[in-house]
Amino acid sequence: MLDLKKDFPIFGENPGLCFLDSGASAQKPSYVIDFVADFYRKTYANIHRGVYKQSWETTVLYDKAREKTAEFLGVDSPESIIFTKNTTESINLVAYSFGETLKEGDEIIVSIMEHHANFVPWQRLAEKKSLKLKIAYIDRESLILPLENITKLITDKTKLIALSMCSNVLGTISPFVEVCKIAEEKGIKVLLDGAQYMPHHKINFKELGINPDFVVFSGHKLCAFDGVGVLYGKKEVLEEMEPFLTGGDMIESVSIEKTEFAPLPNKFEAGTPPIGAVISLLKAIEYLEGIGLDKIEEHEKTLAKEAIKRIKEIEGVHVFAPERISNGIVSFTIDGIHPHDIATILAEDNVCIRAGMHCAEPLITYLNQDSFARATFYLYNDLEDVERLVKAVKRCKEVFKL
Ligand code: ALA
Repeated sequence: MLDLKKDFPIFGENPGLCFLDSGASAQKPSYVIDFVADFYRKTYANIHRGVYKQSWETTVLYDKAREKTAEFLGVDSPESIIFTKNTTESINLVAYSFGETLKEGDEIIVSIMEHHANFVPWQRLAEKKSLKLKIAYIDRESLILPLENITKLITDKTKLIALSMCSNVLGTISPFVEVCKIAEEKGIKVLLDGAQYMPHHKINFKELGINPDFVVFSGHKLCAFDGVGVLYGKKEVLEEMEPFLTGGDMIESVSIEKTEFAPLPNKFEAGTPPIGAVISLLKAIEYLEGIGLDKIEEHEKTLAKEAIKRIKEIEGVHVFAPERISNGIVSFTIDGIHPHDIATILAEDNVCIRAGMHCAEPLITYLNQDSFARATFYLYNDLEDVERLVKAVKRCKEVFKL
């Protein structure tokens, strides 16, 4: 078992904190915080704009973050890594810029387990451009997304499959590798939403033998600071796309008549980027790789399995997860207690979980629920946290005299 609470100052500052909401945002290790604080004290300047030492050094770190991110994903071209604000912005960028190329009648496939960030932009684009948005359903019993439920929707009008690699509610892993292979054969573009996958699993697209057209994720869920998101795009696809935002640093030349855009990646990074957050991503990836993503995955799975086993023993508790647990996501309900009340009572015990629709209302509705309580385990959690969750769930029932 990993024993990493000491690496994360939040636990020292908040004795007794049982933090089970890393699915919403992860805590930050000293390795990341200290480096970035030092950087702001000693080095900070804007990138790409100054010829002086601080600007050069900052630019070097910023570029190193891009190279590290490409290596982390197992993709060749660092210039295909675009830094955005978060996963949501990355997807909106694609919906706006790639969306420009779509025509009336074209089809987009998403799954029912998408986060709103990978649902609403496509729904809106479909409305605006008269496209057809098709939904691949999970199996209500097994909570798995069968490949066939996606492939049967493919027609010669399918232009894009936008698919979550991992559901933020159920922890279900989608058959994204097979989808990428099939889509490539058929000339269909694929966008993979890795927001809940990248922080918890080792990934190397080259080793998997796939090269998705777009991959998106956020830094803040993998121990980097909030404010940085990633969009990886196939070089030739990004080169064909219109810029999303226009302004400084994304231009080659500007005259009164016309603007020439800069080559990748600058074309998609208008304005001063979130420099400190990008550098925090470099350090966060270094930190996670130092521990080993495979070890992190095993650790989370062990905790989630134990938590599921234990809370399922409590009468009236229902867990919503596929049989094969792949990560630390544990969504549950308790008969007779609203998930918001569960979260409130758990918070009194210093057990932090999330409750609600988890930005996945179509999924929750499809499962005939109105909301879930969700505990998410990450690398710094331990068996004591499982114990705290179980105790708090039991106390919750006592409070409601159930
Ligand atoms: N997408 C984040 C979550 O699932 C905020 O909680």
